[in-house]
Amino acid sequence: MKLLSQLFVLALAPSLAFGSLFSASSHVQMLDSKSFKKAMKTNQTSLVVYVTTSSGHCRHMAAEMDQASEKLHPLIPTYAVDCDNEKNKALCAEEWVQKLPTVTLFPRGNTLTPTICPERKAAGVVKWTSSHIPDYVTQLSNIDDIESWKEKASSIFAFNAATLMKVPLLWRVLANKYSGRLELAAHWDEHGQAANDLGLDSNTKVLIYPAGDSRPVKYEGTTKYEPLTKFFDSILDGTADIGTASEGQKLSDRPDDEL
Ligand SMILES: *[C@@H]1O[C@H](CO)[C@@H](O)[C@H](O)[C@H]1NC(C)=O
Repeated sequence: MKLLSQLFVLALAPSLAFGSLFSASSHVQMLDSKSFKKAMKTNQTSLVVYVTTSSGHCRHMAAEMDQASEKLHPLIPTYAVDCDNEKNKALCAEEWVQKLPTVTLFPRGNTLTPTICPERKAAGVVKWTSSHIPDYVTQLSNIDDIESWKEKASSIFAFNAATLMKVPLLWRVLANKYSGRLELAAHWDEHGQAANDLGLDSNTKVLIYPAGDSRPVKYEGTTKYEPLTKFFDSILDGTADIGTASEGQKLSDRPDDEL
């Protein structure tokens, strides 16, 4: 009996200790080889921290990553791999995991080469990550550029949303995730001229040019990650109700939501 209970404690201890590396409400998700593959298939920019429970440096880094994931959620998923776990030996033997803790950025799932994050503090990780998202946003400087760009099929267009120097993080994250399937562009409509030319109110932030239709449809939801991905997915699977909207329906946008 005594032996049994000791065995029980020994078996449970590593997972309890590992669980406590991240807060109960943490956005950091644990990965094993199977969930790692699945996560990499989503084409998202994501961070993976490789740690062992026994090291103080790893515990410290885990706490920083916990904080970083607060800031990056839901735009950039943060994952952790427990390298003490035998099952994760193959994952932790990858060339980019040389010295633990290691934080690796996967710019676009497994379609682009991973990069080691040199930062060790939450704020630094967030800043560094934000500047390492591949940029698939087409920047349209002039109103005339909108005309030629909209000829592309299944286009999505961020309108009045961006400075040309720094396209907002949300829009870059979406363009990266949907690259090859949807086209995203941004135009900084500083003086509301494009809105005026297109007969729109200046609060409009996202326009969609459905394939084969030159008339834009206004996106009426909030300009946040989850509703936008839902909407983009519905465009791709053909369930989006953009037919009626393109008949000239007036859709309201919410001025309080920032892109
Ligand atoms: C990921 O990107 C590849 C190529 O860019 C594409 O073929 C695939 O459909 C994308 N997968 C998802 C889930 O978006």
